[in-house]
Amino acid sequence: MNTADTRGRFITVEGTEGVGKTSNLDFIERLLHEAGKAVVRTREPGGTALGERLRTILLDAREDGIDHDAELLLMFAARAQHLAEVIRPALDAGKWVLCDRFTDATYAYQGGGRGIPAARIAVLEQWVQGELRPDLTLLLDLPVDRGLARAGQRSAPDRFEREQAEFFERVRQVYLERARREPARFRIIDASPPLPEVQAQIRQALEAFLAS
Ligand code: TMP
Repeated sequence: MNTADTRGRFITVEGTEGVGKTSNLDFIERLLHEAGKAVVRTREPGGTALGERLRTILLDAREDGIDHDAELLLMFAARAQHLAEVIRPALDAGKWVLCDRFTDATYAYQGGGRGIPAARIAVLEQWVQGELRPDLTLLLDLPVDRGLARAGQRSAPDRFEREQAEFFERVRQVYLERARREPARFRIIDASPPLPEVQAQIRQALEAFLAS
């Protein structure tokens, strides 16, 4: 077995607000365990002590003066720590990393949502990640109004959830465009039907990935 075979795999889950990421992440984690994989489940922004502190700032609705570039750089600061402390060591140890959001979220939210040029994000991506990219990205896709209605039933809106529907439309379009451009990495999961049907799509995508 060569090194490439013993290295773990990096799976990310993406989507706009209210698409059901948490319950589907629980399901994916269970499927990976059943397949005998050692799984490290984590999230962005966050996943480390520093990253979680940055997350608190980034999501705090009272932080209404954060400059768009500062927001972008904080996302990548959290990511750099996450890669160094959690993601790379886990992959090197043969573990599978299941991450709630990663750099596709930066292209979608800071790129699509805030309007920062993708080329600027790509520079940071290359700097912080080098060649590391997710091996599989599950994009949970749902019309924005349905997601916002679901998310609105939860706690008080955070700094991103306070944005208008047009912001999330742009976020969704960037996600879909990225998925279309990288069909080998992305699987688009239709998050509209009832949960068992969403999970059936996820199971199929994961089984295909595990068999590849
Ligand atoms: P969530 O993980 O609970 O959905 O919240 C994280 C929020 O942070 C979500 O609104 C998306 C946003 N976010 C970005 O704007 N850029 C990023 O790079 C990441 C990872 C998340």
